[in-house]
Amino acid sequence: MAKITVSLIKADVGGYPGHASVHESLIKKAEEILSQGVETEVIRDFRVLATGDDLELIMNHNRGTDNEEVHSLAWKCFEAVTDVAKELKLYGAGQDLLKDAFSGNIKGMGPGVAELEFTERESDPLVAFMMDKTEPGAFNLPIYRIFADPFNTAGLVIDPSIHDGFVFEVWDIYEHKRVFMNTPEETYDLLALIGAKSRYVIKRIFPKKGSKLPADEAVAVVSTEKLYQIAGEYVGKDDPVALVRAQSGLPALGEVLEPFAFPHLVSGWMRGSHNGPLMPVSFKDARCTRFDGPPRVAAAGFQISEKLVGPSDLFDDPIWDYTRRKAQKVTEYMRRHGPFEPHRLPMEDMEYTTLPKVLKELSDRFEKVE
Ligand code: F6R
Ligand code: MG
Ligand code: MG
Repeated sequence: MAKITVSLIKADVGGYPGHASVHESLIKKAEEILSQGVETEVIRDFRVLATGDDLELIMNHNRGTDNEEVHSLAWKCFEAVTDVAKELKLYGAGQDLLKDAFSGNIKGMGPGVAELEFTERESDPLVAFMMDKTEPGAFNLPIYRIFADPFNTAGLVIDPSIHDGFVFEVWDIYEHKRVFMNTPEETYDLLALIGAKSRYVIKRIFPKKGSKLPADEAVAVVSTEKLYQIAGEYVGKDDPVALVRAQSGLPALGEVLEPFAFPHLVSGWMRGSHNGPLMPVSFKDARCTRFDGPPRVAAAGFQISEKLVGPSDLFDDPIWDYTRRKAQKVTEYMRRHGPFEPHRLPMEDMEYTTLPKVLKELSDRFEKVE
């Protein structure tokens, strides 16, 4: 069977208004550029979506991950869209395009990237998750639960095809190191790492050897770019995306969505400096309004073949209203703390925001206490 690649590449190239959402004209421009990519056969099909102030390009092709033509097309697309954003004087036009010239790979240039290359099955369901106003570690809890928590994923207990568990690739994003860990055997060690979600992030999930699926083809991937490390100063949170494949030897679609029924606390929100609940929303509600948030996640479901069949707007369903209400209550509760921790992030995380500039001004006024 032929191999398929799905590339989800995203960037904030201008918000409307402020950092709330993406203007229609940016989506139109992106569609125009990616259509040229289909004509020139760089990609086979695409969809352009938006979550909060992030423009999301979903492309399928057969060129593999880290492909120069595909990345160059995405970069060209973001540049063209930035020109529109500048014309309209949208907010922070070109914000995430941190480098001037494209040099072969879009990674490290500002945009977030999640790509999966896999051998096509008879039928391939896939979910593209897009978060705004948070960081890659926000995916740790849901991805852990999908692939390793038997209370979430019934198949881990009752389906022999996933009963053996999965392999987690975890990155230390400060030290630029990675480790592969097996579940369920190393569950406690895995949790010891990924509970520290601002440092250890789940990058990919692989099937185990002997499973129905090839052990060297990732079945889930999370974007782990760190904007502040690229830019050298705070330019907003990373607003991560992820691709997760489902069914037949993998968690079912409903098991992939289930962890999002709990609106867990993530860091980001206003000025990238606050903890708040992650609220699952439909694409039409993926606008960050209250206190620039709260952090949101949208989910686009596809069947993947030569064409992208979809998206199905998976959180556009009343069953998620209960979670949203809970997220609203947690929003209210957290907001009442104002500038106090744990609503505001702890000092070590604030290092990468604008707070140190304020504190520097005060440093001369401190005197020794005997
Ligand atoms: C968070 C975010 C916003 C901005 C805030 C201030 O990721 O994008 O909360 O940090 O609106 O934005 P500036 O500094 O552009 O006025
Ligand atoms: Mg923005
Ligand atoms: Mg954003």
